Amino acid sequence: MKITVIGTGYVGLVSGVCFSELGNDVTCVDHIEKKIEMLRNGEVPIYEPGLKELIQKNTEAGRLVFTTDLTEPIQKAEMVILAVGTPSLPNGEANLSYIMAAAKEVAQAINKNNMVIVTKSTVPVGTNEKINNLIMEHTNFTFSIASVPEFLREGSAIKDTLHPDRIIIGTESEIAKRKLTELHRPLTDQIIITDVRSAEMIKYASNAFLATKISFINEIANICEKVGADVTKVAEGMGYDRRIGSSFLKAGIGYGGSCFPKDTQALIQIAGHVDYDFKLLKSVVEVNNDQRFNIIRKLESILGNLQGKTIAIWGLSFKPETDDVRDSPAFDIIHSLLDRHAKVRAYDPIAVKNFRSQLNRNEVHYCSSAEEAALQADALCVLTEWNEFSEIPLLEIQEWLKRPILIDGRNIYTEEELLDTELMYYSVGRPNMNKGVREEVPLLFLK
Ligand code: UDX
Repeated sequence: MKITVIGTGYVGLVSGVCFSELGNDVTCVDHIEKKIEMLRNGEVPIYEPGLKELIQKNTEAGRLVFTTDLTEPIQKAEMVILAVGTPSLPNGEANLSYIMAAAKEVAQAINKNNMVIVTKSTVPVGTNEKINNLIMEHTNFTFSIASVPEFLREGSAIKDTLHPDRIIIGTESEIAKRKLTELHRPLTDQIIITDVRSAEMIKYASNAFLATKISFINEIANICEKVGADVTKVAEGMGYDRRIGSSFLKAGIGYGGSCFPKDTQALIQIAGHVDYDFKLLKSVVEVNNDQRFNIIRKLESILGNLQGKTIAIWGLSFKPETDDVRDSPAFDIIHSLLDRHAKVRAYDPIAVKNFRSQLNRNEVHYCSSAEEAALQADALCVLTEWNEFSEIPLLEIQEWLKRPILIDGRNIYTEEELLDTELMYYSVGRPNMNKGVREEVPLLFLK
């Protein structure tokens, strides 16, 4: 199939590359010349395991092309995929200006009937109908519209795209149903065909539900700390119930990234537009925004005033295996530390450059290794669960630190590993450990 993908961000680039890997002829279009130039030279603007190799393979096979010119690829294609960004506006609503501009350009370039125009960007319910109307205004050729939301995760984007749990096809058009089923059939049998509005809603509802699971387990973790239970065991026990499932029940410092924060806010706005107060989701967001500050509260309860204290930070990206720092909890945590006049020494395996360019504060000392950040620090905080961190023996960490205080925001170390250490260890929703011994929580909470 000849496909043109508009937008070479995460979703557009990964989808385009994966469709070419399936044997389709794919042209990826982007306005940003520098990005296209990079991609043509085999350089990848984002860090995503396996992506570079697949780009190289499919470019060499002649199935994958990058260009800034939209007209010719649209005219050659039988399907166009819109995968441009829908960032948040200040009020939380999705900014649709980029996708509308792209749709208009597509409409003006169409030169034949039966084009299938697919939206992969996350858009509020009703947007595809707006896109349909806009395209109709600018072309006399027949075309069909479909919503095929994307569920890939950063860091495992290739695997998620080539082995999806399900494919959602939202369209009223028979041609679009047939072509999209044909395109996705090699990936999965789990293809759900529905109307456009439901497809748009499935994406928001899925992300909102996953965000809810995370905030739920984070609140359970906060209670576990007070009653002396272990949230990892609680989550394991809950997860075996197939109705609940074990994924997205890892307690920590809360979710970040390009999707959950943006999509939860957008869904609250969508509900608000139809006079529905989405109370549950508002609480999910509130819980998430507060969870990260537990790191600061813990530091202050141990060290007292943080002024002049050296705090080592391990992990700046919103999750491991990515250099993406969008909405990373590390921003709020580091701002808070600097506001309290602590000295911050930060390290991340690959996200330092992105983080530094977005923090806008020059007081942070960025380090080129985990050891350098931890050396002589008054406390070490783990904010992202990079394997590199969990592989460092705790006795080494103890040697590096000035005071043996370890705040683990992602629960990456086990009780067994702590046994032979002198560390004071505080994690999320698990018993504190002091010199290898569990700190008991007195039963004072029982009335
Ligand atoms: C998410 C969705 O998973 C994906 O389907 C959608 O297309 C885009 O948004 P992504 O943002 O790449 O993907 O990362 P994900 O792995 O879902 O993690 C999101 C955030 O939740 C991270 O900050 C992660 O640390 C956090 N998280 C995830 C938890 O705190 N606990 C968990 O159990 C799972």
